[in-house]
Amino acid sequence: MSTIEAQGRTGTAVRLVCVDCGSTDQDLSGRCRACNGLVDATYPQTTAVLQPGDADALETYWELLPIGDRASCRIAIEPTPTILLTELDGVPIWAKMEGVLPTGSTKDRLIAVSLPLMVERGIERFVFSSTGNTAAAYAWGLQRYPELSARVYVSEDVPVAQLGDPTPQMEIVRVQGDYVEAGNRSRSELRPGEASEGGFFNLGRREGAKLAYLEAFDDVARAGGRVDTVVQAVASGLGIVAAARAAGQSAAVRTWGRSPRLFCAQQTSCSPMVKAYRAALSGTNDRVAEKEPAGLAAAILLGDPFSSFDYVARAARESEGGFVDVTSSEIAAALQRHRREVPLGDSAAVALASVYRMWEQGDLRGSEGVLVALTGGPGR
Ligand SMILES: Cc1ncc(COP(=O)(O)O)c(C=O)c1O
Ligand SMILES: [Zn+2]
Repeated sequence: MSTIEAQGRTGTAVRLVCVDCGSTDQDLSGRCRACNGLVDATYPQTTAVLQPGDADALETYWELLPIGDRASCRIAIEPTPTILLTELDGVPIWAKMEGVLPTGSTKDRLIAVSLPLMVERGIERFVFSSTGNTAAAYAWGLQRYPELSARVYVSEDVPVAQLGDPTPQMEIVRVQGDYVEAGNRSRSELRPGEASEGGFFNLGRREGAKLAYLEAFDDVARAGGRVDTVVQAVASGLGIVAAARAAGQSAAVRTWGRSPRLFCAQQTSCSPMVKAYRAALSGTNDRVAEKEPAGLAAAILLGDPFSSFDYVARAARESEGGFVDVTSSEIAAALQRHRREVPLGDSAAVALASVYRMWEQGDLRGSEGVLVALTGGPGR
């Protein structure tokens, strides 16, 4: 059978379809086999809502996940807090606190959904690249999946401590060069019997990332608030594409009647997406990869994001959002302001600094509520 469907479910109709060509034929990572495009899952409308005391987001939003069998899910993701961090001229700034997850970043959700999908698809060994946080999350999650093993390519610039506890289930290859080079190696050195994990194109990763937004929208709604603006730090932009799906599927957003604007945040010193978006707005369509990505927020140093950019730009544009960049001093100021209140890593601080920048530029005028994804805690 070439078409991969969520099997083993009764009464649900999850459909996996390429957003580019409509094909339902996917490879093992969930990428379109016909055109190499992005495959998304579509679900019947649900009323799934987070309740206080819920202990596993995968269970709460089970109807919005493409996994066939509950028994393949061996990692419970305890919902993380959404807090009212501050108010800017009366605009509530809600923060989603992902730093409290087991390895300190939102990546734990991604692997909690991608691992069961891999098992269901018969993968035994997978290969991927990482700026560090995804590697740490897989190293941790693989313990629950002893039948799986992995090889990860990581730039030698990434300190080994970023990669989590060493495990015989995960081979680490240090790459001379940046994250782009690590990605190239991970694809070109695939051996027989190994599956490419797919990165941005991995359906499980995106569906896992979506859970943070489903939770946050429900939490804000329960607190009587409303989110009309979302800000997240981007490397590949997977998180923002996931936010778009969450907005489309969230019962809370349905009651608000309007999907939030989605904003992608980068650091000025490595902001190829911001520049490409501005170029597109001015009609030149220039796309320039950052040859030597540098900056405080190491987890989002991706110099060439152009395999995913169009999907990310579409999510931003269709939501009437956009792209923001912030300088090192703005990032440092955000850290200084809030690091005692919330677990705040440098990449999360890029998003938070962007909220302040948008406020100063007048982009939050009239907003009823901003949700900023604090995707990682200290060191993440
Ligand atoms: C803490 C943190 N925030 C944000 C991101 C952005 O990732 P993406 O744009 O690929 O969703 C990453 C990616 O590694 C990350 O580790
Ligand atoms: Zn396709």
